[in-house]
Amino acid sequence: MSRIFTRAFFPYIVGFTLAIILTTVFLAPLTENKVMLISVLAALFVTLLIMLLHFQERFIKPMRKVTETLHDIARGNYRARVHFQTTGDVAELSNRVNQLARYMSEISIQEKMRSEQLASVIDNTESGLVLIDEKGYIHLVNSKFLSIFGKREKDYNGYLYHEVIDNEIIHQTVHDTFLYEKNVKEEFSYYNGGVDKNYLEVLGVPIFSSRNRLKGAVLVLYDITELKKLEGMRKDFVANVSHELKTPITSIKGFAETLLDGGGDDAQVREEFLQIIYKESDRLQLLIDDLLRLSQLEKEGFQLAVAELDMHSLVGDILPPIKHKAEREGLEFSVEIEEDVKLEADEEKVKQILINLLDNAFNYTPEQGEVWLRIAEEEEYVHIQVEDTGIGIAKEALPRIFERFYRVDKARSRNTGGTGLGLAIVKHIVEVHEGLINIKSELNEGTAIHVYLPKQIKA
Ligand SMILES: Nc1ncnc2c1ncn2[C@@H]1O[C@H](COP(=O)(O)OP(=O)(O)O)[C@@H](O)[C@H]1O
Ligand SMILES: [Mg+2]
Repeated sequence: MSRIFTRAFFPYIVGFTLAIILTTVFLAPLTENKVMLISVLAALFVTLLIMLLHFQERFIKPMRKVTETLHDIARGNYRARVHFQTTGDVAELSNRVNQLARYMSEISIQEKMRSEQLASVIDNTESGLVLIDEKGYIHLVNSKFLSIFGKREKDYNGYLYHEVIDNEIIHQTVHDTFLYEKNVKEEFSYYNGGVDKNYLEVLGVPIFSSRNRLKGAVLVLYDITELKKLEGMRKDFVANVSHELKTPITSIKGFAETLLDGGGDDAQVREEFLQIIYKESDRLQLLIDDLLRLSQLEKEGFQLAVAELDMHSLVGDILPPIKHKAEREGLEFSVEIEEDVKLEADEEKVKQILINLLDNAFNYTPEQGEVWLRIAEEEEYVHIQVEDTGIGIAKEALPRIFERFYRVDKARSRNTGGTGLGLAIVKHIVEVHEGLINIKSELNEGTAIHVYLPKQIKA
């Protein structure tokens, strides 16, 4: 009963009580049956209280619950619901509120998913990202950025970019992005852990509001170390090729000029000079052939002419000139090929591997040394091994042996007609066949090179 004496009903109850008291006071002198009058008014009063109680239960309480629920929803609790067994308008209202809560809950789940997706994209990009507002405060840094610059997210978020990022080029990029309001790109290098030199490209992108006002900037940092390395390799390669071509050409030109100036009047001198010119042009041809082989292997869309090869007959094809060379060099040369070794590969390329490896073995093994060519079948690979008892390769030189134009002893290689590209070509051929190559060598004892080519090449 006390529930109905709430703030909402209190003025009505007071007003009604006063009205009844006044009615009683006015009507009492006019009425003879006072008991009857008081009874009627008392009954009226009780009826009113019952009506108010009913009103409270039917409307006020549900309304209060609805208000509370809306409050919860407004505070972000989208699981709040109105549970009320009512009918009519109040039921309609609570249904609508529940519907609203469900709708808000769905939207918030979608919103959460979207922001999680976005966060995971931002965090998993290969580039460092930084979001800076128009006043220069950092609002976001991703994991890649942290992995480059160290420290933690909380060391950046909420701070001015020039206070927490210690890099002049980045400061300049942000400054220029804000000043010119367009994309700005810069590059810089840094030492990762004090050892490796890494290169980064930093791109500043201005962000505009819908009213075209500058709102901030995004910094994107790309790791361009690999690109720089490739660029450096390409430059070195061009320089090396030019250098390698220059030597024989200078020599050819010089001897030809001498002959033209009458230096060849003596038949013996002429013969000697022509021999040199011939040898140098031969060297040029070898170099150009090797360069063409390499460029063919590197060409985009390069296709291997894959066929089933029988290793016995393949070796048989190339053996005569090889045996001849071994004899000429005074070397003992043995070939051991297992029975029936078959291989799916590019015939010309496999021959090239054997020729280049055997060529090296003969060139870098002094007279009376021994050279072996062994071919055996293994589970998934055909194992080709070329071993010699030659001069060997020093440990320091081994990691560089497959580099283009790398030669331990330049003069020695040149004398044997080497171009410095033989092993680079072998490695390339092995790689396009998805095979493996490794080398074991002891200085003054000998070298063994192992090539493993997959028996079945993947399409
Ligand atoms: N079997 C070997 N024994 C000793 N040194 C070798 C052998 N094979 C290769 N090398 C070394 O590796 C260098 C690179 O080999 P390669 O690429 O074939 O070029 P090159 O034209 O000089 O033979 C050679 O100059 C030589 O110093
Ligand atoms: Mg060679």
